[in-house]
Amino acid sequence: MGRAKTIRRIQDADVAGKVVLVRVDYNVPLEGSTIKDDSRIRASLPTLELLLHRGATVVLVTHLGRPDGVAVPGLRLDPVGTRLSKLLRRPVRKLGDCIGGEVNDAVRSSAPGDVLLLENVRFHREEEENDATFADALAKVADVYVDDAFGTAHRAHASTVGVAERLPSYAGLLVQKEVDVLSRLVNDPARPYWAIVGGKKASDKLGVLRDLIPRVDGILIGGGVAFTFLAATGADVGDSRVDSNLLDDVRGIARLAAEKGTKIVLPVDAVLAPSLSMPEKSTIGDATRIPRGLSGFDIGPETVEMFAREIARARSIVWAGPMGAFETAAFAAGTRGVAEAVATSGAFSVIGGGETGEALQEMGYADRVSFVSTGGGACLAYVRGKTLPALAALEE
Ligand code: 3PG
Repeated sequence: MGRAKTIRRIQDADVAGKVVLVRVDYNVPLEGSTIKDDSRIRASLPTLELLLHRGATVVLVTHLGRPDGVAVPGLRLDPVGTRLSKLLRRPVRKLGDCIGGEVNDAVRSSAPGDVLLLENVRFHREEEENDATFADALAKVADVYVDDAFGTAHRAHASTVGVAERLPSYAGLLVQKEVDVLSRLVNDPARPYWAIVGGKKASDKLGVLRDLIPRVDGILIGGGVAFTFLAATGADVGDSRVDSNLLDDVRGIARLAAEKGTKIVLPVDAVLAPSLSMPEKSTIGDATRIPRGLSGFDIGPETVEMFAREIARARSIVWAGPMGAFETAAFAAGTRGVAEAVATSGAFSVIGGGETGEALQEMGYADRVSFVSTGGGACLAYVRGKTLPALAALEE
């Protein structure tokens, strides 16, 4: 049975005339005070509209970045409040903190249809500690709790698990949708099922690869991760970034894949340059014989073709991590080529949020794949079969 069937749903909550605390994930990429990608804000609108339509007062709580328990001016939520107000087409009152006198007074004097946005919850150290007193303070202003922060569902924090334990709690529409889609990959994926794994660091992806190997038929490895894998096979990767302390672990992963009959495909060519800041000097070369003084910053065209052939045969795909340093035009072709292959494959394709989601958004592929998750870490945790604490707290 899919996990979607066991979590309490917002549609079944009685919210008319009530104050509803909604945990959203508005951890959006910022450049100064400019929001670079507002997908996460847009994705929360159906839940907010449903609550407002049913006569609730909405109090929003989110984190932004990793301020580590102190108020960081650049991580205040004012730009988020402004964007949300524009998208919702109604006023959003942004408060100065997430607990305390101002919050209590603002909620007390609010009316159904009002939207209040609490300040960055991670300005308090107690949030990430799931501190009981802090969770009490967050919960006390509300009658009902709705969790629509799929991107934060792998974190057992006060505003996710703590509050859910203190109030009647329900999953919002976004959380339900994410769980419905992702559970297809966990429970009964159409086969062949391929994972595409990239990103900068091998250390971030080893656990994911270990857990995915028994679940998928094959894995295409690109991005920075690939060079540690290539180095573990004895390839010469020049000055490419290699996590040399992980070479034994990587060999263990290759053995596990062989045991389970899961194919692992590594790049055969790469886009090389003396450094990330010298894209004008980029050349294409053999990924297994990179000269000293050069590093790989993207997969090469032959690799894109090879990956595209596997992608074309796949019926389910999960993709986490760009194929190269796509923010620089000279190193974006690998990610673009793989995106094109995924978009035209006809497979059920799920893209992990975070950097991969941003890359596809930027390159215009977000609407051409089956689903772009709003979660990065949460999406990966889900598809590798982990229990997400914030979802567990919503189970019946
Ligand atoms: C994310 O961007 O993946 C989520 O918002 C969680 O953020 P975190 O990794 O800082 O907990």
